[in-house]
Amino acid sequence: MYALDHHDHGTPAIDASTLVTLEIDGASVTVPAGTSLMRAAATLGNDIPKLCATDTLKAFGSCRLCLVEVEGRKGYPASCTTTVAEGMKVRTHSDKLQALRRGVVELYVSDHPLECDGCPAHGHCELENMAEQVGVTGTRYGTDGATARPRKTDASNPYFAFNPDLCIVCSRCVRACDETQGTLALTIQGRGFQSKVSASQDQPFLDSECVSCGACIEACPTAALSEKSLINIGQPEISTTTTCAYCGVGCSFQAETRGQEVIRMVPSRDGHANHGHSCVKGRFAYGYATHADRIRTPMIRKQISDPWMPVSWDEAINHAASEFKRLQQQHGRDSVGAITSSRCTNEEVWVMQKLVRVAFGNNNVDTCARVCHSPTGYGLKQTLGESAGTQEFDSVMKSDVILLIGANPTEGHPVFASQMKRRLRQGAKLIIVDPRAIALVRTPHIEADYHLQLRPGTNVALINALAHVVVSEGLLKEEYIHDRCEPAAFERWRAFVSEARNSPEASEAITGVPAADVRAAARLYATGGNGAIYYGLGVTEHSQGTTMVMGIANLAMATGNLGREGGGVNPLRGQNNVQGSCDMGSFPHEYSGYRHVSDDTVRALFESSWGVTLETEPGLRIPNMFEAALDGSFKGLFVQGEDIAQSDPNTQHVTAALSAMECIVVQDLFLNETAQFAHVFLPGSSFLEKDGTFTNAERRISRVRKVIEPLAGLADWEITLKLAAALGHPMPYSHPSEIMDEIARLTPTFTGVSYQKLDRLGSIQWPCNAEAPDGTPTMHIDHFVRGKGRFFVTEYVATEERINARFPLLLTTGRILSQYNVGAQTRRTGNVAWHAEDRLEIHPDDAEQRGINPGDWAGVVSRAGETVLRADITTRVQPGVVYTTFHFPESGANVVTTDNSDWATNCPEYKVTAVQIVRVTQPSDWQRRYREQSRQRTRIQRADASIV
Ligand code: SF4
Ligand code: SF4
Ligand code: SF4
Ligand code: FES
Repeated sequence: MYALDHHDHGTPAIDASTLVTLEIDGASVTVPAGTSLMRAAATLGNDIPKLCATDTLKAFGSCRLCLVEVEGRKGYPASCTTTVAEGMKVRTHSDKLQALRRGVVELYVSDHPLECDGCPAHGHCELENMAEQVGVTGTRYGTDGATARPRKTDASNPYFAFNPDLCIVCSRCVRACDETQGTLALTIQGRGFQSKVSASQDQPFLDSECVSCGACIEACPTAALSEKSLINIGQPEISTTTTCAYCGVGCSFQAETRGQEVIRMVPSRDGHANHGHSCVKGRFAYGYATHADRIRTPMIRKQISDPWMPVSWDEAINHAASEFKRLQQQHGRDSVGAITSSRCTNEEVWVMQKLVRVAFGNNNVDTCARVCHSPTGYGLKQTLGESAGTQEFDSVMKSDVILLIGANPTEGHPVFASQMKRRLRQGAKLIIVDPRAIALVRTPHIEADYHLQLRPGTNVALINALAHVVVSEGLLKEEYIHDRCEPAAFERWRAFVSEARNSPEASEAITGVPAADVRAAARLYATGGNGAIYYGLGVTEHSQGTTMVMGIANLAMATGNLGREGGGVNPLRGQNNVQGSCDMGSFPHEYSGYRHVSDDTVRALFESSWGVTLETEPGLRIPNMFEAALDGSFKGLFVQGEDIAQSDPNTQHVTAALSAMECIVVQDLFLNETAQFAHVFLPGSSFLEKDGTFTNAERRISRVRKVIEPLAGLADWEITLKLAAALGHPMPYSHPSEIMDEIARLTPTFTGVSYQKLDRLGSIQWPCNAEAPDGTPTMHIDHFVRGKGRFFVTEYVATEERINARFPLLLTTGRILSQYNVGAQTRRTGNVAWHAEDRLEIHPDDAEQRGINPGDWAGVVSRAGETVLRADITTRVQPGVVYTTFHFPESGANVVTTDNSDWATNCPEYKVTAVQIVRVTQPSDWQRRYREQSRQRTRIQRADASIV
């Protein structure tokens, strides 16, 4: 059942330059060639009755309700499957057509009686609407077709139910699963009244291949597939457009509410990033926002061993402010700082970094992007001139070759993965560079042309080998390079990658990838038409993360694959607002728009706007803050919506640093791991409770709109404003739109952005300014942002994290679809039905050597620490490599990761840890301590029920 306010045109829009003019019921209409008669009529506001058609799916022509008359043609063609022709004359209404349609609806009603009262779709059901439209209230055929009823409802999925009695077998769900989602989990089995929708091998939805994306529910014209919330609570009253707060795809949703209750989240068909599609997280996993664990009262305590004391907002804010002031008086101006959150809005990040620069008077502000995509920012800025991806998602529909490196989109960026799969099913080629066999290596109707299954930590050797083939086999786009790139830097790079040591044959010993495959993949990318590179944390989270990003940009420039649709270099951002938190200048060395704090002109602009003198030296990065805390010079930290005790590497090092500080203020939805070390807890607000904007991986700025009141009374931006005022630096905003106005005034890539324009356009891809008033879908079109593109020599340097006899395996990490990041949100939703714990994937050979059987406890021991996970024995990983996700704190995945980090940005090397795996019978010491602390925390929390 589609969103409350959607006008369905029946069949998809056609992108064709040839226009056709025809006449429908006497009115002239001009539409692109290939458009259906149904859609052409709908553009005139003439909605032809339909049941099996909807404008997100290809026409199927099964229900025969949409019949029309075409002058000069015999019979009654279906308007959804008949395309327009020049001069055609069409009648959509006549007594004959009405009689035919009535007959069709009566047949449907014989198997689906119009017992609509109490049905969750009542008032929005298409069968009910069609019956009314054609004047059917009962059926001449009797309701014998319904004799098979009642059939059992499948309620196995935590979020939706399938009631076969309400199914009219229109197959919209089957087509949605095939065309929109690309999972192909559904079929229609049987014939006539016995035909029914079946998931996988006629299994309950939960046990089938279904990934719970919701596309089938969205497509279903009746209540056969319905959200449980709609069944249990009833229909919504208000629909508000907002943006998903999970991953960097940034899907647009209609949040449908009744009073203060969210009934459902319906993906917006107008959403430019998702075009009406969604994944299980954004679509269903919003229950965390009102979970009982939400803290709703500010709290303080003297020492971290004391119980929390609920206090008023003023008390908490004044306490935090006086502590920060005391620390700065006693230990100096630089003894305090803040970490901003990539989950908060742009406006919230902006006010936080401003607070640090203005009220703390230093540049000690960093963002959690430090631990994921900081190498992207630096690497792309150096080579191309802008710290962001180059394309919009829709660009992939024009790609001929997709080179996917260190990213697993079906798990991490599912809606974009569905779009990519659509393009791959149309015939685009796919090269995957990944140590692990991700789903896209082989999935229904898709098989990667090459899977370059390299050893973790050898990305740079591989990208150099790919470049070597391009250079040595004459595949360079010489003219493009000559026109657009710095010649001297290019020549240096060409000479470097030409060296024999960078050949695929020489690199094979390092990467483990057969040279012939590297050669073939390089040829395909360089010569196969539009080549697009998509990459993820498997590129950035390495000691050579920045080098690899530069290597990717080099390869794209060398093959002329930048500056047009279908190509590009595209980082897939993990969190919803990673791009935004970086854009907003929450880095210790940069103001918004990636301008260095030592730039006098830029600084003067901020000084005159903010009325203060600003620090000229860069501040501390997150790892430097920890170091400084341990050496006693850094004493106070404000942590905005980020669980550093769980998400940062080498947990024991992080917790030692946190324990060494005198005032930690945590602002979060939940009493997270970091809050164990906090002295002040400020209850944060979820994306449902505030206004603002997020910026997704395409640089797309989208509105977040308040749909319910903040549970703790204040939105995050209001909390920061209160703290700024208490520190003596009030900020004059009454609404986030005013914060955006300031961002636009002070940031050249945002000068054209305003809430008004966002309301008008739906979303905007920055740069948006005088040169690009409606934004910039594709970057670097005529020239690179930095002027000439710059090639960098990318010498491969092996990580210090080496395997040896003691630590003979390499551990790498990743994500799964149902969980998100450290799991604070998704663990508090029905998504635990799919993934209730992190597991260790190990190859059968490695498992056998160690006597490990499926489901056994496996001890994971590294140079940094040890943890215990249950084993999954699988050939998805190669021998010598083990893999886990990191969504559950108890798994302690970061207890074993090391302090190694990217040479340029300090992004941690999460993806490579040398480990030994041993069969064990009990959790590690760390896990036992963690469990005990967790129990204590729950006791503290429950002891004072008023705080939750
Ligand atoms: S479940 Fe809904 S969409 Fe699927 S066949 Fe039945 S009525 Fe059509
Ligand atoms: S929820 Fe998505 S994956 Fe599952 S059956 Fe429906 S369309 Fe297919
Ligand atoms: S793909 Fe990402 S942004 Fe879209 S619904 Fe899923 S989690 Fe949300
Ligand atoms: S809507 Fe055209 S045949 Fe069903």
